[in-house]
Amino acid sequence: MIVVAIDGPAGSGKSTVAKALAERLGLEYLDTGAMYRAVTFAALRRGIDPSDQEPVARMVRDIELSVDQDQVIVDDVDATIEIRGPEVTRAVSLVAANPEVRTEMRRRQREWARSHGGGVMEGRDIGSAVFPDASLKAYLTARPAVRAQRRAQEVTDLDYETVAADLARRDALDSERQHDPLVTPEGAVVVDTSDRTVEEIVDDLVAHLEPHGE
Ligand code: DC
Repeated sequence: MIVVAIDGPAGSGKSTVAKALAERLGLEYLDTGAMYRAVTFAALRRGIDPSDQEPVARMVRDIELSVDQDQVIVDDVDATIEIRGPEVTRAVSLVAANPEVRTEMRRRQREWARSHGGGVMEGRDIGSAVFPDASLKAYLTARPAVRAQRRAQEVTDLDYETVAADLARRDALDSERQHDPLVTPEGAVVVDTSDRTVEEIVDDLVAHLEPHGE
């Protein structure tokens, strides 16, 4: 089973690279950030304070999550649009810092890989905590201004300064949290995506994968 782990901060190009790599390799793709966003959506919808760890932990074991490339369904509700909205984006780092949420998400992510015969998974802790033995681990980075620019293009209703500030705040929360913080996984290929094309990066990663075979 081939598992490729793609980690890195927001705006580092993870989604674009992970999707293109999955297509090149004929593997399935999983956006694990969408799972944390979906849990955050579920908490907000039920009126649970995302920073209140116990009720969020109780909730996460029971919720039904279906995350694929085009659609995210949470307990029969289509959350595809809302999980990218400002409310979820503001609260998601709090939910992602909850250790019981992380344990449950890790379990579901490993299960996803097993049931799909491997895949390309992007997130913050895939190479460090979910699949430390992945066939290939990549850590993507980009200059902060480039990352903010990319995010600003995605969220058209917010100005560059707001996006840059939010990105810096989330980076700090994700890197400094106690459980599975964002780190460069041991043995990961580190790629600065600032000045490279998606194709170049995918070529580079495929070349790193090949020597290991199946
Ligand atoms: O990649 P993203 O912006 O959609 O991720 C949303 C949040 O989820 C991000 O603030 C960090 C968190 N996350 C995480 O803690 N672990 C992962 N494997 C993926 C995302």
